[in-house]
Amino acid sequence: MAIPHPSHSSSVSASEARIALLKRAARDAMDYLETEDERSVAPSPQAVAALSALRGPLPPGPTRAEAVLHLLDTYGSPATVAKTGGRNFGFVNGGCLPASLAASWLVSTWDQNAAFFVQSPVAVTLEEVAIEWVRDLLGLPAGTGGALVTGATMANFSALAAARHALLTRAGWNVEADGLFGAPPITVVVGEEAHASVGKALGMLGLGRNRVVRVPVDGQGRMRADALPPLDDRTILCLQAGNVNTGAFDPAAVICPAARAAGAWIHVDGAFGLWAAVSPEYHRWTKGFEQADSWATDAHKWPNIGYDCGIALVRDPATLRDTMSMEAAYLVQGDHREPSHYNPELSRRARGVELWAGLRSLGRSGMAEIVERTCGHARRFAAGLSAAGYQILNDVVINQVMVSFGTPEKTLATIARLQEDGTCWCGPTEWQGKTAMRISVSSWATTKEDVDRSLAAMLKAAKE
Ligand SMILES: Cc1ncc(COP(=O)(O)O)c(C=O)c1O
Repeated sequence: MAIPHPSHSSSVSASEARIALLKRAARDAMDYLETEDERSVAPSPQAVAALSALRGPLPPGPTRAEAVLHLLDTYGSPATVAKTGGRNFGFVNGGCLPASLAASWLVSTWDQNAAFFVQSPVAVTLEEVAIEWVRDLLGLPAGTGGALVTGATMANFSALAAARHALLTRAGWNVEADGLFGAPPITVVVGEEAHASVGKALGMLGLGRNRVVRVPVDGQGRMRADALPPLDDRTILCLQAGNVNTGAFDPAAVICPAARAAGAWIHVDGAFGLWAAVSPEYHRWTKGFEQADSWATDAHKWPNIGYDCGIALVRDPATLRDTMSMEAAYLVQGDHREPSHYNPELSRRARGVELWAGLRSLGRSGMAEIVERTCGHARRFAAGLSAAGYQILNDVVINQVMVSFGTPEKTLATIARLQEDGTCWCGPTEWQGKTAMRISVSSWATTKEDVDRSLAAMLKAAKE
């Protein structure tokens, strides 16, 4: 069935054709989900090579939408990395909760622009509610506000932009108006194990990836409180809640009171680790981080909201607003919180809808359960690998495990065989001079059976 042009006389058939196409897309999506358990986590080399069918010059004329969808499903679906099942342990990749996935279908159909209330009352309302829920779940101060962005990289960027604004305003400098040339200097302090995205954000903000004071860390990557430089009200101190390799937390309860007393701006990169605050069992790791001025986190990691959804939170949201707002005569403003005033973007997708739906489906206890279940799975991995004689390189405090299979060559060869086997997916890393395999258990969908099946595949790959 062809998709008629909207200007054609038969609008009924245009609408029917669109619905038939969406039904077909839904069927393809459901077929994809139904076969998730049999699918190799990494796509086969043949499937990746077959992507060449999607290359080539743009056709001079239209292609029927059904044919486009057929191409996508035929060549695209097999070349995906299987993330909907429970055996992808790479990076810090969450899955996508059923409620968020369904909401994402709906919100794509709505095609809302979440820049201003007048453009989408529903998107702006749900975003506002969801940010408040996140603040509450993370135990952050009342009044904290924020922005939904693409991920923790942009959340770090947005929150650090607010920090830059606040510190330079104090020094009598308007950085948004006058830029950084000739501005009073500010100092940025980071841990030696700060995530690379903090450096990237600092680079994009003109604060410099390297123009930072680096604080030494301990064997788990935690900032050493005894090695902090003097702090003052021209300092941004970047703490970390959840190291990407070890899962370890900087000692915020020790560091924050003194940093606050000195007038420093405390920023927390808590891309995944901050969510431990929701669990009575793991809450202790996040103590002290609530004293910060800004936080960056991800909903597409532990909360399993699906890609993409990062969250920048700022204790005094007016700072973020002063940093990000823009005005133009045609940008109609209402009396509402307008997302575009808090975001680096103007036009943006309505990711708050998926966030609202996922959190609504979980409730507080559901979120705590994901944290506790995945941390339990991480310990099960560590115990199984350790029992087989392999060295676990970190204290498994939350959902991250690092294992060495022996020499760097043996570890890398094991990872390559594991990825080829396809039962599960894990990637490599380097930790304080050692080569390791990372296991990040972040998906709501991972079961004990997934862990045992993956463990068996890991042990087989290590023995070959
Ligand atoms: C601690 C930390 N910060 C920042 C990021 C970057 O997050 P994103 O990929 O959502 O930008 C990550 C990603 O794993 C992370 O673990």
